[in-house]
Amino acid sequence: MGAPGRFITFEGIDGSGKSTQARLLAEHLRAGGSPVVLTREPGGSPGAEEIRKLVLEGDPDKWSAETEILLFTAARRDHLEKTIQPALDAGQTVICDRFADSTRLYQGITRGDLRGLVDQLHSLMIGREPDLTVIIDMDPAKGLARAKGRQGTEERFEDFGLELQQKMRAGFLALAREFPDRCRVIDGDRPMDSVAADVASLLA
Ligand code: ADP
Ligand code: TYD
Repeated sequence: MGAPGRFITFEGIDGSGKSTQARLLAEHLRAGGSPVVLTREPGGSPGAEEIRKLVLEGDPDKWSAETEILLFTAARRDHLEKTIQPALDAGQTVICDRFADSTRLYQGITRGDLRGLVDQLHSLMIGREPDLTVIIDMDPAKGLARAKGRQGTEERFEDFGLELQQKMRAGFLALAREFPDRCRVIDGDRPMDSVAADVASLLA
């Protein structure tokens, strides 16, 4: 068997430009001849996409933070088994829009300190960290305005508002300090192409 592929994740607050940058990086690598699987969380496999609907739609109080940790981790386990691991084993680069760092923050710090629980379940059921995590840093008010501009039905977390986004931004920057080997912070408040060039340079 050949070398395993690289596992790259994008993290950051809602509207920071993760999906855009994940797509641009995939296009860049494919143009250079690398096979790439572009995927996202929650979701990325048929079963995990079903769980996505359960967690992202409806009343913000629908699930407790503890139940959410179980649901997001269940979705991630399916995604890892069915999509991520097979692609890495086949030597493909996997680019994933959000991964376990989002659970560490959204479920880990927004409603009390549940970070320990998130990490325990992660090591029991996932046990895999990305090779590279690109954290797109963004002013929360601008990120929220961008995210709201999309007008979808997946608003459970966007409805938490600006205060949560501010906590998340600080949390992502703290995660970058906690995991300096795999995390890189990129300023997302610039034209898309400038951000994309910086992201691409991380892999050069
Ligand atoms: P995320 O996945 O982090 O929520 P998206 O990539 O979906 O963010 O971007 C949110 C919105 O902002 C989209 O409408 C997108 O076209 C726009 N956008 C993304 N990056 C930039 C940028 N650098 N400058 C201006 N608008 C952007
Ligand atoms: P996403 O579709 O990436 O939203 P956006 O494009 O607005 O950033 O993710 C949807 C929401 O799911 C987002 O508000 C963050 C939340 N989320 C969690 O709360 N925990 C998780 O583990 C993941 C992966 C996402």
